[in-house]
Amino acid sequence: MDYLDLDTLTMAGKYLLGATGGLVSYIAGNYLIDKQTSTPLHVSYDQKPRMDMKGLDLFPIMSAIFKSLPENTRRNLLLKGNKPSSWTVPDWFDIYGENPYKISEVIPGKIWNVYYSTENFWAFDPQAKTFSKALGMDFTDEQTCWRIMRNAEQFGREVSNQTLKDLEKAKELNDLVEAKERCPETIKAVGPFALNMPVVKLNNGDVLLYCPVRVRDETGFAEWLEGLGPVKWVVLGSSAHTLMIPSIMKRYPEAVYISSKDAWDKLAFMDGWPKKKADFEYDNVEDLERLNNLLSEEGIQFHFVAGDNATMTVVPIAHKAALECDILYGLSDGGFLNLTKEELEVGGSAPADQRLFKMALATKPTSPNGYLPIYRFWMMDPCCPMGILNPTPPAKDNSGCAEMAKSLRAILAEEIEHGLGVHTGPITGKVFKESVEANWNWLDGQSLLQPKK
Ligand SMILES: [Fe+2]
Repeated sequence: MDYLDLDTLTMAGKYLLGATGGLVSYIAGNYLIDKQTSTPLHVSYDQKPRMDMKGLDLFPIMSAIFKSLPENTRRNLLLKGNKPSSWTVPDWFDIYGENPYKISEVIPGKIWNVYYSTENFWAFDPQAKTFSKALGMDFTDEQTCWRIMRNAEQFGREVSNQTLKDLEKAKELNDLVEAKERCPETIKAVGPFALNMPVVKLNNGDVLLYCPVRVRDETGFAEWLEGLGPVKWVVLGSSAHTLMIPSIMKRYPEAVYISSKDAWDKLAFMDGWPKKKADFEYDNVEDLERLNNLLSEEGIQFHFVAGDNATMTVVPIAHKAALECDILYGLSDGGFLNLTKEELEVGGSAPADQRLFKMALATKPTSPNGYLPIYRFWMMDPCCPMGILNPTPPAKDNSGCAEMAKSLRAILAEEIEHGLGVHTGPITGKVFKESVEANWNWLDGQSLLQPKK
């Protein structure tokens, strides 16, 4: 108290409170005005994202704060906060010395699918765990269990019993991870996180990777891949899939990188990231046109899915095979992501957590259409707190849905004989088209398989 007497401190306190109060009023006022001037998604849902802290839901608070920030600051904070935390993700070879790749040829000499297994970071990374809990995937949470069982009941007693068993298994797994933490035993018990990488040989002999996974020398994988031709083109298919790109950049620094601005700007926040800008930003109309002019002769055409602010995805069609990421979840043939209908059925070989994921998030009534996980609706809703937490938020007038419908219609009008999904693996062109329709025909309420009336 040498320099500040009590009066001065009291006055300073009042100013601080006044300023804080003003800021809170501004943030709250801004949030309310924004909410009242935004058009909600035209599809209703009852479950909302929730991030609990001592009984308080942090999502509306976070959303209000982010809404009040200058646009550049808001976007940069989100991109920086979601940049990959390391240059590699441990895979099955790192942990067990096993081959993490399974290669299948989809179109002889032209298209291959590479199925790649890494550690399931969702189970061990604290940030990923918090996020998955907010999405409604904490299978030990009472409310989540209730919702899962409610969703299961509609399919009858057998499914209900299977779901109960799956929940018990998930609980046992959770207890094991809590007791032993991350170690080879728990990583194996949780099971791998698997992604598919479509590989395309262009007409000029160049090799293009879509949503690439790590390319390593051991197990002969790099030799096989590079034996197909020079790896010259790398496509970042979704702004939600950037974890593997740093390892690819290390291996192929001279390749041509095709990305959305969101995905690239996220990576550019990594220490030592060598390239400020992607060679082509496919969400930029001029870049997309330039890219298509350059490569259409080589057997590939790129379709940016405008309006899908959550993923900013691109669907290239190469040699009549559509490559996609984060568009397909439930499949028209009864499959879901990498799992077939048979694997998902009662007694089938699907891992408990994956069957529960479908039951918890992508089953009616939690999912309005029973194909997409509920968070895909939240992320596109201008009035949902999760909307503003995307680097590109949904358009305030909900026009993104009509825009996305238009993009998907243009894709489905093309001749497509095969589909290769990063989460689904290879499917037929028929299942691809029917599944895009099943997942997204709610966008403007009309079939995507026909021209809009
Ligand atoms: Fe994804």
